[in-house]
Amino acid sequence: MAPTPLEDTQVAKDTLSITDNRTGKQYEVAVSEGTIKAMDLRQIKTSDEDFGLMTYDPAFMNTASCRSAITFIDGDRGILRYRGYPIEQLAEHCTFLEVAYLIIEGELPSATQLDKWVHDITYHTYVHTNITKFLESFRYDAHPMGVLLGAVGALSTFYPEAKDIEDPANRYIQRVRLIAKMPTLAAFAFRHSRGLPYEFPRNDLGYIGNYVNMTFNIGGQHQPNPVLQKALEILLILHADHEQNCSTSAVRSVGSSHVDPFSAVAAGIAALYGPLHGGANEAVLTMLDEIGDKKNIPGFIEKVKGGADKLMGFGHRVYKSYDPRAKLIKKVAYDVFNQTGLNPKLEIALELEKIALEDEYFIKRKLYPNVDFYSGLIYQAMGYPTDYFTVLFALGRTPGWLAQWEEMLKDKEQKISRPRQIYVGAAQRDFVPMAMRK
Ligand code: ACO
Repeated sequence: MAPTPLEDTQVAKDTLSITDNRTGKQYEVAVSEGTIKAMDLRQIKTSDEDFGLMTYDPAFMNTASCRSAITFIDGDRGILRYRGYPIEQLAEHCTFLEVAYLIIEGELPSATQLDKWVHDITYHTYVHTNITKFLESFRYDAHPMGVLLGAVGALSTFYPEAKDIEDPANRYIQRVRLIAKMPTLAAFAFRHSRGLPYEFPRNDLGYIGNYVNMTFNIGGQHQPNPVLQKALEILLILHADHEQNCSTSAVRSVGSSHVDPFSAVAAGIAALYGPLHGGANEAVLTMLDEIGDKKNIPGFIEKVKGGADKLMGFGHRVYKSYDPRAKLIKKVAYDVFNQTGLNPKLEIALELEKIALEDEYFIKRKLYPNVDFYSGLIYQAMGYPTDYFTVLFALGRTPGWLAQWEEMLKDKEQKISRPRQIYVGAAQRDFVPMAMRK
């Protein structure tokens, strides 16, 4: 229904007038930052016994669950900023740890602050040796995301003091531990899947260099490639935060019970694992494998349009134009392929993108490539197996999860997360003894 313009005698106000046609009563609720408070609707009742009006919003399509100062996204214009800084500038000028500091602390670090931050993280990269024993008990073919999920959850038992979430100094050390140990656990998950002995952290290497070394070094033979390391650094920066996505909401929701940060981040890893979220980069490669050849693309597109399949790596709940991260990743892909040689699947991906961007089905639904469309191809070229891609996403997203967890804890308006429901089940009925059941 088109809004009725104000009459000359009316004054514009930041409120919403509501007439409850069930009772004829009128209400005025405040509008602030383009939002009304759902709790303001609770006063709207048909009788004293009535619970009050609720909103129904499955999948939070139109509900702000928090106020946040971390990441800004304009999905229609393809804009992404961390703490106000455009993602393109951060990807060009910063290291991953600098961006992690920015996201968590709110400002870019000074040289002294960055030195301390890098030092603290570098000196917490080791994991308790029992973690390595614990990893041994996973099957040889265990999915690395399952391994990472279990290992991060297990970390909480090694640092029971992490439960003291009220103490800022304690929160700091746990954040440092998580960011520092994530590459170690990620690399161990990789080595486990290949039956390789673990390569322990080296403090003389940078964050990315150390991770790559722990992953790929065999007998001291690994030759670091600065172009590939820079590409990985950019990819991690692009994944560092993305406001209230599925995994971040999971971290906030689980963290709202005041559990320790390792358990809250493990919940984020679990959410990221799914193919509609971080698991999509793995699904893109599976899809490209299934298509197999450029000549099969039109048939595949028809299948997608018929609803029998999805074009993985396309579409986004928030971006209704080209995902800015996908644009940057596409550039990185060419740097990487210059080093590693062209991946034949890139040709299929480029053609798929071209056809999809010109097709009415995708145009009408505003479906564009998302961050996962090209990232998998790059990871594969770097030597990571398909089922490992989401682990790299988790590595990048860890600072974002921690920043959002911290923000949630400090927010006086937040409480334990507890949505409402509309009960649609059976009304009260009496127990039926087994012999009388149908
Ligand atoms: N391929 C084909 N059709 C699609 C796709 C796709 N990838 N994505 C959405 N659509 C269609 C839907 O079928 C729907 O069509 P309809 O209106 O005819 O029913 C319409 O576009 C709207 O889609 P929704 O599912 O309502 O969009 P939603 O915001 O719920 O989903 C999501 C977003 C989950 C990302 C979806 O686009 C998708 O499944 N994409 C593929 C998986 C993927 O790449 N995920 C990674 C997301 S980025 C990330 O998590 C890091």
